[in-house]
Amino acid sequence: MTSHSPHLVVFTGAGISAESGIQTFRASDGLWADHAIEDVATPQAWRRDPERVLRFYDERRTQVRRARPNAAHQALASLEKQGFRVSVVTQNIDDLHERAGSRDVLHLHGEILKARSSVDERMRYPLPRGGIKLGDICDKGSQLRPDVVWFGEPVPRYVEACEIVEQADLLLVVGTSLAVMPAAALLERAPLDAEVILVDPAAERLAPPGVARLPQPAGRGVTELVRHWSREGRLWLPETLLGA
Ligand code: APR
Repeated sequence: MTSHSPHLVVFTGAGISAESGIQTFRASDGLWADHAIEDVATPQAWRRDPERVLRFYDERRTQVRRARPNAAHQALASLEKQGFRVSVVTQNIDDLHERAGSRDVLHLHGEILKARSSVDERMRYPLPRGGIKLGDICDKGSQLRPDVVWFGEPVPRYVEACEIVEQADLLLVVGTSLAVMPAAALLERAPLDAEVILVDPAAERLAPPGVARLPQPAGRGVTELVRHWSREGRLWLPETLLGA
């Protein structure tokens, strides 16, 4: 590698885990079609009916544990093994990037396999055996909750995520509808000379101006890009592939 290894920043959403069997949120058969956000994913829901919220995240955890990383997670991890600098910023609460072998992963919206204090977001804990139960408390004596950022809450790691994106030579965005802020605004943090590519079956509809579109599922789109980059040892925008 040259003195400056190309730095790939990957920003992922639920779509990268779809081929692993984890439901996305906003599809017609997605999670938010079956569950009202205000019943399970807000601080108010937690105050009103914590048991219901815990049950919802127990189900999510079961789905995550059954899932395996797919070709897209694996291709990204393999790029890192080849000497590229790869940083992953994910909106996903699953651990599939880590299980595929990615070492630099920032979870913007938390991690389902961890617990945290309900009064101090910095106090994180391994998940209690059998999941979180009412009565499980943190060191400040307050109830443990899933380590997940809910709607209406600040995103504690957003500034850190911005700093990572600002260092990108290329920003690869995968499987996100870009519907949730502030996460979606991360794209605007990419350096002006960095290409930004969106791999998503709905990329034509979703990509903001100036973002290259690869309208394919992650398993295919990401592996094709990674194959090109591995072969050449550099990050570039394969126009033939994108049809741009
Ligand atoms: N490969 C790539 N993308 C896919 C695939 C696939 N196989 N299947 C579906 N997608 C795309 C969809 O086209 C859609 O654009 O994945 C995207 C999923 O969008 P959302 O369900 O909105 O998920 P996401 O963008 O990750 O949601 C952001 O919203 O509810 C919150 O906190 C939750 O982190 C989540 C945030």
